[in-house]
Amino acid sequence: MAVDEDKVMEFLGRVVTDGGAAVAGLCTSLGDRLGLYTAMAGAGPMTAAQLAARTGLHERYLREWLAAQVAGEYVSYDRDTDSYLLPDEHAAVLADPTAPTYAAGFFTMMQALYGTEDLLMDAFRTGQGVGWEEHSDALFAGTAKFFRPGYAGSLVADWIPAMNGTERRLMAGAEVADVGCGYGWSTMLMAKAYPASRFHGFDFHQPSIDRARELATEQGLADRVSFEVAGAQDFPGDGYDLITFFDCLHDMGDPGAALHHAERALATDGACMIVEPNASAEVEENINPVGRALVSASVAICLPSALAQHGPQAMGNHAGEEAMRHLADDAGLHHWKLAAESPVNRVYAAAR
Ligand SMILES: C[S@@+](CC[C@H](N)C(=O)[O-])C[C@H]1O[C@@H](n2cnc3c(N)ncnc32)[C@H](O)[C@@H]1O
Repeated sequence: MAVDEDKVMEFLGRVVTDGGAAVAGLCTSLGDRLGLYTAMAGAGPMTAAQLAARTGLHERYLREWLAAQVAGEYVSYDRDTDSYLLPDEHAAVLADPTAPTYAAGFFTMMQALYGTEDLLMDAFRTGQGVGWEEHSDALFAGTAKFFRPGYAGSLVADWIPAMNGTERRLMAGAEVADVGCGYGWSTMLMAKAYPASRFHGFDFHQPSIDRARELATEQGLADRVSFEVAGAQDFPGDGYDLITFFDCLHDMGDPGAALHHAERALATDGACMIVEPNASAEVEENINPVGRALVSASVAICLPSALAQHGPQAMGNHAGEEAMRHLADDAGLHHWKLAAESPVNRVYAAAR
């Protein structure tokens, strides 16, 4: 069959664009970690020398970095004044970690993922997993940084109010377990909003729990938040009014057993909040930028993490609502609803 040369060139163009984006991603990460976007945010047009004076970094490197930012249209350039501008709209995405649109965490995660490429190659050959703990700190920090803005924008404002009766219980004083809590931003966001309640974050990854404890102290929340190393199948305590799983249930080797344990640990009328990536079980429905990012993350992080736990079920992050609902039903959580949705997450409420 004759190859359509136009289609070859069109696809080549697309792959070159993606390659350029991959290299540029390193520059984005550098700009984020070195505080370059923050230094430019709201500062108006500036020359490379002015950016160097502001950041204490070397001007020659900054000129190169700025040229790359202009090439990617992240920063605009004025030839007459030889100055560069980070538009306010771009600052909301790259310079302000408190903005719900902050997306720089994505690039911190990338730092870790290329580092595990050799382990992934072995895993593809052997069928074994790559455990969460086998990644570098950049994955743990990047994951927290990536998910936090979405939680900060929606968790208290939209997701909890969408769970029948849960907001009222949290305001009155409830016991909450946040399972697979990582650095614990979800736990702390809830703790800030509901001071009468007590929050217990659990994760089987010691370094994440250590960091969560530090952050809770820094945030002045240590009086109502505790963090403990524990697995999803055996975390301590019972009588919880709310048990949450933020972007972690599908990372587990036995998510069904985790839900069984949660069902046993719930108070009468308690509920589980299960937050999962907003990717579809139908592969062709993920042909969009978020779907592509999520499913690619499943190849590199989620599936290998679950396989490393040698459980009966490695779901990947796009198993879909029906698969999750089935697991919950099996665990005795028969009441199920899609409570809320964002471009990145779907939020399910599950109860007896
Ligand atoms: C993608 S991260 C999400 C972390 C955090 N919930 C967030 O939203 O930022 C998945 C987390 O699940 C934890 N995890 C995976 N399997 C677990 C298990 N079986 N028991 C407890 N934690 C687990 C990992 O250590 C990791 O912190």
